[in-house]
Parts: sequence; structure tokens; C-alpha cells
Amino acid sequence: MVGRVFKIAAAGLGLLALSAGVAAAQSYPTRNVTVVVPFSAGGPTDTVTRLVAEAMSRDLGQQIVVENVGGAGGTLGAARVAKADPDGYTLLLHHIGMATSATLYRKLPYEPLNAFEYVGLVTDVPMVIVSKPNWEPTDLKSLIEYVKANKDTVTYANAGIGAASHLCGMLFMSAIETEVTTVPYKGTGPALTDLMGGQVDFMCDQTTNTTNQIKSGKIKAYATTTKERLDNLPDVPTAAEQGLADFQVGIWHGLYAPKGTPKEVIDRLSASLQKALKDENVVKQFASLGTAPSTQEEATPAALKEKLESEIKRWEPVIKAAGQYAD
Ligand code: MLT
Repeated sequence: MVGRVFKIAAAGLGLLALSAGVAAAQSYPTRNVTVVVPFSAGGPTDTVTRLVAEAMSRDLGQQIVVENVGGAGGTLGAARVAKADPDGYTLLLHHIGMATSATLYRKLPYEPLNAFEYVGLVTDVPMVIVSKPNWEPTDLKSLIEYVKANKDTVTYANAGIGAASHLCGMLFMSAIETEVTTVPYKGTGPALTDLMGGQVDFMCDQTTNTTNQIKSGKIKAYATTTKERLDNLPDVPTAAEQGLADFQVGIWHGLYAPKGTPKEVIDRLSASLQKALKDENVVKQFASLGTAPSTQEEATPAALKEKLESEIKRWEPVIKAAGQYAD
């Protein structure tokens, strides 16, 4: 009898806790939300996040504050969110590195497929191979010849193992069968500053970080990683046009929350993300930076989950073949 009363009381308490959780989720958010960008301020992930966060803040009625947690190719920031309270007040905006780091790292402090709830896809950003302004090569063909001839002195900037710039560099170096010295940064924001200053020779980075500097002549552009030329950089030929037929890579971004975040909160965030991706300013700014918002169907938990699962499978054999690992 005592046991039965205890069970009923416990069930009642469980129901109470559940309804308190539902009520909290319904009024969500009641204070500022933090979104972690796992790279430095001023870089491509930061740019995309700030544009989307601004639009989502207006919709949610609370400020979304961006926190930059750079280092280790995006894995430090992801680890920080994996460990955060699953209450909807700490989010992560990460890119393709969520998939590649699953293979690149022998040990990660989180399990990419199990540590997060999925909010939705955000955008898919093209890349461009760029160099310091006064570099000798004039086109992709002469760049490849130059890199091969000077492989012991040429330097390539990236944002650490697991970054998009790392992936693109790895694909490029295996395509031309040449390794050069890589210089890792906490993000390609600071890497771009050094590229403009001539401290590093070249890198492959997203148009969200390179478009304005290419247009103003502060860096040189050699090739896009897209099938077709980009509307915002029509004078930059594709890598395929210049002999690297299969050299295509797009940097998809997704919004995540820690595992266990209530479904009501995820649904609210997903609806807000969808709205932000239709926002006039977001659409306009994305277009000027060479990208476009994900579709409404893509900005959903199911689409991001499917993307991450398929991208882990897609990149695993490529990374294994390149033989690149980090501890
Ligand atoms: C990358 O290479 O992954 C990005 O450029 C990171 C960043 O946002 O700085």
C-alpha cells in the first residue's frame, strides 16, 4: 500500500515536472539566448550567424548574443555547447566541420550524431581559392605550377583541422598531389587579415569572408569551388573551367542545441529560423556575399539530421584516403 502511494506520488511529481517543462517551453525565450560560433569573430561563420541571429532576435523578442569560441577547427565551440544545459539558452551554429571532424579527430569530447538536437539548415556557402595581393601566379594553372615548384616555402592558411578551409586545402593538395606548410588560425577572419598583409600566401575560404576583399583588390581570386560561376563574382572562373573537373565543395551550415532540449523549444527555434531565412535583409546580404538562405524545408530538424548523417558518410572515405587525422 505504502509502495503504491509512493508510486502515485512519484508519477504525480513526474507529471508536474513535465507540465512545468512544457510551460517553460511555451513561454520561451524569457531572456537572452547565446549562440556559440566555433570560430573567431569577423569570419564567415560569424558573419552568417550575426545576420541570422539579428532576424531571429526580432522574431523571438529576446536578444540572441553571439559568443565566439574558436580553436581546434571548431571542435572547442561544439564541445562547449554539447555540455551546456539543454534549456534552449545555448545554441551552436556550425558548418560542414561537424561532419568532417567526426572522422578527422581520433578522439572528440562529444559524439557529433548524439550530442545535439537539430534546429535546421541555414545556408550553403561557396568557396574561392584566394592569395595575398601581390602573389606571382596569375590563374589557377600558374598557381598550381608555382605551388609545386615552391612547395617547401609556400604557406596555406586555414582555421584548424575540421575547418572548411582545412577541408578545401586538403582536397586541393590531394588533387595536385603536393603538400605545403599550413598555418592554423582560430578562424579565417584573422587568417584573411594576414593574407591581406602578405604574412601567408594563399587559402581557400568562403565567399562570405572573401567577396568584399576580392572586389576591392585586397586579395587575389583564382577559382571558385562551384559548378557554375557565381553571380556576385562573375569574373572569377570555376576550378572546373581551369582543369580541376571535380573540385567542388559547398559549406553547409546548421543550427543546433544541446541534446535533451525540449521539443517545444526546438520547434520554436526552427520556426524562427525559417522566418529569419525569408527576412529581406538576410536574403539581400547573403546574395551580396555569394550565398543564399536554405529553403524552408531545409531549415528543419529532420533535414539537418539527414544532412549530417549523409555528410559524415560522404567525407569519411575521402578523409581516410587523404590520411589526415588529429588527436
Ligand atoms: C572555416 O575555415 O571553417 C571558416 O572559415 C571558419 C570561420 O568562420 O572562421
